[in-house]
Amino acid sequence: YDAKDIGAALLAWYDGAARMMPWRVGPADRAAGVRPDPYRVWLSEVMLQQTTVAAVEGYFRRFTARWPDVAALAAAEDAEVMAEWAGLGYYARARNLLKCARAVATDHGGRFPATAAALHSLPGVGPYTAGAVAAIAFDEPAVVVDGNVERVVARLFAVQTPLPAAKPELVALATRLTPAERPGDHAQAMMDLGATICTPRNPACPRCPLAAFCAARAQGIAADLPRKAPK
Ligand code: ADE
Repeated sequence: YDAKDIGAALLAWYDGAARMMPWRVGPADRAAGVRPDPYRVWLSEVMLQQTTVAAVEGYFRRFTARWPDVAALAAAEDAEVMAEWAGLGYYARARNLLKCARAVATDHGGRFPATAAALHSLPGVGPYTAGAVAAIAFDEPAVVVDGNVERVVARLFAVQTPLPAAKPELVALATRLTPAERPGDHAQAMMDLGATICTPRNPACPRCPLAAFCAARAQGIAADLPRKAPK
């Protein structure tokens, strides 16, 4: 199959079915030229590491109400931020969050750098977060691969290599699928598909916008992939 056909089916599904999240720009706003705010995208991606969307939403709303931009967050007291983070867990994320906000404020004039490479140089911003922010906020065709995306790609192409050895192969396949246009929406659509339809158990293949393209489905092995090396 042509990667373009897969990408088009995925984006059509995303435009019609994606859950709205407070850091996303919906289809109507996007059509009107509204762009996601890099600060909100970055904050959401840090919060979403090891944490579900449902758990993050309230924290995200409270953080952005109290600190509406990166300059405001950079000026916050450490203890205030730690208190607002309480309950989200993985507290190193909150300390790095403040470090990063202060670096953006002091070293980058209060504006997030616009490339994955430059974002990666910020404190606490690893390759995944740098790619996600670059794609979602700046439309860089960065390849964004989390556990959900690994599963979607492994099934779509019926990759039999077990994880973690399969990772480079899955990244290469995800790269082929990443479009030049709307790469951020593509990345979020892949994540949503993995979270809601192409789930680890009992994938909802009859509802999947990519069912017609899916090699694992054709072979009847979707629920068995990705394979995992025995521990
Ligand atoms: N997990 C990490 N980033 C996400 C995003 N932007 N949307 C949904 N789930 C995510």
